[in-house]
Amino acid sequence: MAEAFNDLILPEEKTARYEALAQEIAAVLEGERNLTARMATVASMLAASFDHFFWTGFYVVDPEKPDELVVGPYQGTLGCLRIAFGRGVCGTAAATGETQVVRDVHAFPGHIACDARSASEIVVPVFDSEGALIAVLDVDSDQKAAFDQVDAQWLQTLVQQSFSRPEMV
Ligand code: SME
Repeated sequence: MAEAFNDLILPEEKTARYEALAQEIAAVLEGERNLTARMATVASMLAASFDHFFWTGFYVVDPEKPDELVVGPYQGTLGCLRIAFGRGVCGTAAATGETQVVRDVHAFPGHIACDARSASEIVVPVFDSEGALIAVLDVDSDQKAAFDQVDAQWLQTLVQQSFSRPEMV
């Protein structure tokens, strides 16, 4: 992808690209406290940053059903609306509070297939500044084994800087 955010050209190398993306996201979110606006912006900018990102978005903890995720802002094809804690990759990330890197979604027990083209995925828990789980970030790829520890670390950094700072409360 040559042009990600209007006329900004992101570096080719993955770490450098994530670094530039993190800076751009921080700049765009500066001063905006609304959670939906922040999540929509992160989903959009992630989708524009890597060609193989097939679906990027958030499942948020439902305040009315604290053991259930409900779909939030996303970019991509139609996602399922609700996921119980413990179900699929998103539900596992929510239940354990740990990032899930799945090289082959078809080999993941209980994977929820929203779109058959999804081949691998990464799901990162999103915590608020007090450490409470508020959502998970789900990124799916149409390529197998698309995600590694570099993606895990940068996506964790991205959600921390976007949702876990005290000034966001
Ligand atoms: N793959 C997810 C379901 C959500 S979508 O892919 C958009 C899962 O198993 O948790």
